Amino acid sequence: MAQTTRGLHAVLSVPAVYEAFQQAVGSSRVRKELVAQYVKPTPGLRVLDVGCGPGDLIEHLPGVRYTGTDLSAAYVASARRRFGHLGRFYVGRVQDLDSGEIGEVDVIIAKSLLHHIDEDEAMHLFEVASNTLANGGRLVTVDAAYTSDMSPAARFVVSRDRGQSIRAPEDYEALARRAFGDVEVAVRHDLLRIPYTHVFMSCSKPLR
Ligand SMILES: C[S@@+](CC[C@H](N)C(=O)[O-])C[C@H]1O[C@@H](n2cnc3c(N)ncnc32)[C@H](O)[C@@H]1O
Repeated sequence: MAQTTRGLHAVLSVPAVYEAFQQAVGSSRVRKELVAQYVKPTPGLRVLDVGCGPGDLIEHLPGVRYTGTDLSAAYVASARRRFGHLGRFYVGRVQDLDSGEIGEVDVIIAKSLLHHIDEDEAMHLFEVASNTLANGGRLVTVDAAYTSDMSPAARFVVSRDRGQSIRAPEDYEALARRAFGDVEVAVRHDLLRIPYTHVFMSCSKPLR
């Protein structure tokens, strides 16, 4: 178990509470940054959003062919209720993703997921991504991170996250590089209304 659902974290398992929390801390700015700089949606783009939660990212991805998966049945039920007309949503763990079932996709998104999963499960995600991405496709990730230059307040907030696998940027990158030769990493300290540090990665599959 690489995420905690005990104590105060338990209420975040309720989709409406999770989304209210995301709005309060200003997560839409992270979503906009991820979409504009990394996903770059175009009509018909085949997108797989792994660890999609209650599915709100889909509102930022007009016109794409979207599939979301998440281990939480409650999140997926909420996503289907609110966004079922825009995409498909399935319950599933990362470790059960099957390249053969997924088929070919152009962009895989893992937003705030890697810091919730252990190394074995993360490697499964990178390998599935490497197998299923079309030539020129990419896996884009964003996660909480520990960096030497983050503020003490950001370190405190990040340490209280539900995710139990929060890493340094170089550790996220080292995992990605076991499956991808081309990995771009960017660290941001300024995206939320609260002190927080994010690391973005774009892992590209070369054009052949
Ligand atoms: C911080 S939330 C992010 C949700 C959504 N991507 C967003 O940014 O709003 C992390 C999500 O990862 C999901 N998750 C955690 N471990 C998982 C696993 N092993 N397999 C699939 N989903 C997982 C959780 O249920 C949760 O929805």
